[in-house]
Amino acid sequence: MNKIDLSVDLNGLKLKNPITVASGTFGFGREFIDYIDLNSLGGIMVKGLTLEERKGNPMPRVAETPMGMLNSVGLQNPGVKYFIKEEMPFLKQYDTKIIGNINGNTIEEYCEIADILSKTSIDSLELNISCPNVKEGGVSFGRDPDMVYKVTKAVREHTDKHLIVKLSPNVTDIKEIAMAAEKAGADCISLINTLIGMAIDINKEVTVLARGMGGLSGPAIKPVALRMVYEVFNVVSIPIIGMGGIMNYEDAIEFFLAGAHAISIGTGNLINPRIAIEVLEGIGQHLAEKGYRSIEGIKGKVKVPSK
Ligand SMILES: Cc1cc2nc3c(=O)[nH]c(=O)nc-3n(C[C@H](O)[C@H](O)[C@H](O)COP(=O)(O)O)c2cc1C
Repeated sequence: MNKIDLSVDLNGLKLKNPITVASGTFGFGREFIDYIDLNSLGGIMVKGLTLEERKGNPMPRVAETPMGMLNSVGLQNPGVKYFIKEEMPFLKQYDTKIIGNINGNTIEEYCEIADILSKTSIDSLELNISCPNVKEGGVSFGRDPDMVYKVTKAVREHTDKHLIVKLSPNVTDIKEIAMAAEKAGADCISLINTLIGMAIDINKEVTVLARGMGGLSGPAIKPVALRMVYEVFNVVSIPIIGMGGIMNYEDAIEFFLAGAHAISIGTGNLINPRIAIEVLEGIGQHLAEKGYRSIEGIKGKVKVPSK
């Protein structure tokens, strides 16, 4: 029988399978243990962490759209030190990789959080330079290749941990941003974060979200995410974790074909808490049917007919 190896090596971070759950959609894992065995996940990207606790943005901060959701949660989290003390011991009971999603207002803040997490047994750091829901920092770093280079390089010099840089889709040319991250020493790239969007209540004539705009996620953004993964795959040599609108195993396979080495499920977790397991099973079956023996085999294999 054709034995399939679902493990992936993301340039030093070894996952037992290519399924991760996306930051901000899986909390610190506790809410999901009644639905899935966390041991079956390749990795967990924890909710975005900041130096100090953040209460997040005013309500309403989530809105449904026909093909996804808008959120302006604003990085609500208990702060990195609380996470290390109260949440990491729980997560570390499980045989899955824990990835810390870090967020700062300044380069110094990113470095300080990286320093703090580097002293722990966390498996990887994901640098979120793409959050559209904070006033300063976040996406403003992720839009400019020079800033991406500077913040990535600074954090690289502060940590020996595996380093993922998470890119924003709210840019003109994703390729130059990805190349800047690679040049500055990123081990891996994850993309995409949410696309900036808006919804309006026509009776009250006000925006649905209290802050006006928010990040669009879910099925609506999948074509954009796939295109960006494909573009980035063609210009960098470090591995890519693809995400954006993955709702079933077929979506995940599309991401592998476009060039992703692993995938992350976000909004899908909020609709079906068992989705990660279902996607994992489907991927295994699809690879077997197609005669692939590993993710490496299918990665980047999409053909463009007129090329
Ligand atoms: C409610 C919510 C909160 C999020 N919080 C974070 C966060 O803290 N850090 C981060 O890097 N991305 C965050 N994201 C973005 C997701 O990790 C992911 O990149 C994005 O939603 C696209 O994937 P999806 O379409 O599968 O949801 C958040 C997304 C949602 C929907």
